[in-house]
Order: sequence, then structure tokens, then C-alpha cells
Amino acid sequence: MSKICVVGTGYVGLVTAACFAELGNRIVGVDSDAEQVESLRRGEAPFFEPGLEGLVRRNLEAGRLSFTQSYAEGIEGAEFIFLCLPAPPMANGAADTRILRSAVRQLAPLLAQPYPVLISKSTAPVGTCANLHRLLESIDPRLGQVPVVSNPEFLREGSAVADFMGPDRVVVGSHCASAAARVCTLYAPLRVPCLTAKLETAEMVKYASNAFLAAKISFINEIANVCEQVGADVTEVARGMGLDRRIGKSFLRPGIGYGGSCFP
Ligand SMILES: NC(=O)c1ccc[n+]([C@@H]2O[C@H](COP(=O)([O-])OP(=O)(O)OC[C@H]3O[C@@H](n4cnc5c(N)ncnc54)[C@H](O)[C@@H]3O)[C@@H](O)[C@H]2O)c1
Repeated sequence: MSKICVVGTGYVGLVTAACFAELGNRIVGVDSDAEQVESLRRGEAPFFEPGLEGLVRRNLEAGRLSFTQSYAEGIEGAEFIFLCLPAPPMANGAADTRILRSAVRQLAPLLAQPYPVLISKSTAPVGTCANLHRLLESIDPRLGQVPVVSNPEFLREGSAVADFMGPDRVVVGSHCASAAARVCTLYAPLRVPCLTAKLETAEMVKYASNAFLAAKISFINEIANVCEQVGADVTEVARGMGLDRRIGKSFLRPGIGYGGSCFP
């Protein structure tokens, strides 16, 4: 059983909090939205996701899950702090990491030895975690000892709980091998491969995976345009391609394209 603080209880954070609680850990979710914290305390999720509300209620009742607006309350005794915060694109397309940086500034004065592992689940450009580490160090040189980890999230909205509990893999990047190993142990009950790597490698796995999936969708849409011109049936073409295990059938359905927080 580990004591975990989850900062940001939106899509990724709430699923992370509820699932880690279900695995037997003690979780405190911290969110800046007072109304959301109140409704979560009543066991009401702010969005629909199959199985999520049941998990939240069961773990609230079991005393393994609680919610607060206070960072100090949230991180008390925490061995792990997960940042599940948005890094939305700005007008020029670059990711806006100000929310992440502001959370780290709020956490910094509250961190004490033995330092918890600080883990980012946000989808953010390569180098973001190293920058957060530098930010901590610039606030107080001793905070350079705080291990920073990138643990990208691959869940899909609509099957978030099932995806969290049964992922194809877990990716954990850090410059501190022992911190990465400790994060992997949190996922050990899921019995799936946990890939440990450098910080930048883990961040790149997420971006490369998203780019590849987006390319697959765009590719089959281009093929659909060609099919219309030559009289071929794109659904059959996609099936014929997808049965090849080197290609695979997922993300080969022509349609309106892609969207959502990780595919802006
Ligand atoms: N939604 C998905 O399917 C998905 C999947 C994989 C990765 N991600 C990535 O995970 C990250 C989080 O995404 P999300 O969909 O959970 O976002 P979200 O908008 O659903 O949730 C973010 C939460 O953070 C809270 N918040 C904002 N600023 C805060 C602060 N300073 N302190 C505490 N709480 C704060 C908000 O009130 C909100 O509840 C993003 O980087 C996203 O790209 C999302």
C-alpha cells in the first residue's frame, strides 16, 4: 500500500486516483476546482466513464480515496505525487506548460525529506519534465534531489478504466533509476510490461505514439479519397490491410479524422 497524491482530478487524474485506490493504495486527489471537489466527495464524477463512479464510491466508502483543494493536505505523507494537468496548445501550436509549472511552484515549499517521487502524466513536449526538475532546483537547490518521472498515459476516453487497468504497456522515464523502479511497482498488480527509460525517451514514446496513430487515421482517409476515384471499397481495403499483422486493424477506419485533448 502506498500513499499517493494525484494533482488534477479531471479525466486522467480521476481515473488514476480511482484505479490506484482500487489496487489498495491510499489516494488524495487535489483539484483547484472547488465545485468539482465537492461533487467528487459525494461520489459524483464530473463526466461519464463506464465503471468510474462505482470505483470512486467504493473507494470513498473504504476510506482509500479522498479529495481536497489543499496541496498541503494532499501531499501529507505522500510517497508519490502524480501531476495530471492540462498542457493545451497555444495559438502558435506550442504546448502551454504554465499550469504544470504553477502546480510545481505551489508544491515546492511543501516538499520535505524523504522527498516523494514527482510524476507527470501530462502529454507535454520532450524536455518538460527536465524543465520541471530545473524549476524545483531554482526554487531551492535542495529540491534538486526530488526524483522527477514521466509516466505518459495512453487511456482512451470511453474505456478509460478498462484501459488503465489493462494497458498494453506502462512507460516510466526518469534520470533516477530507483524512482522509476518504484513507480513500476505501483503498476505491478496489473501484470503488464513496464518499460523504464530516460525521461526524454518516455516523453518521446507518447508523442511518437500519438503521431503514429494520427498518421494512420490520416493515411486511411487519404486512401478513402483514392478509393472514391477508382471505385474501390475503402472498408474492404482497410480490412484487407489490417489483417496483415505488420499493419494491424486499429485506427484504420476512415471518418472525420481525429480530435481530443491529445490529438488537438
Ligand atoms: N483525456 C484523455 O483521454 C487523455 C489521455 C492521455 C493523456 N491525457 C493528457 O493528460 C493531461 C490531463 O488531461 P485531462 O484530460 O485529465 O484534463 P482535464 O481538463 O480533464 O483535467 C484537468 C484537471 O486539472 C485541474 N486543474 C487545473 N489546474 C490546476 C492546478 N493548478 N492545481 C490543481 N488542479 C488543477 C482542473 O480543474 C481539472 O479538473 C493532459 O496533458 C492530456 O493531454 C489525456
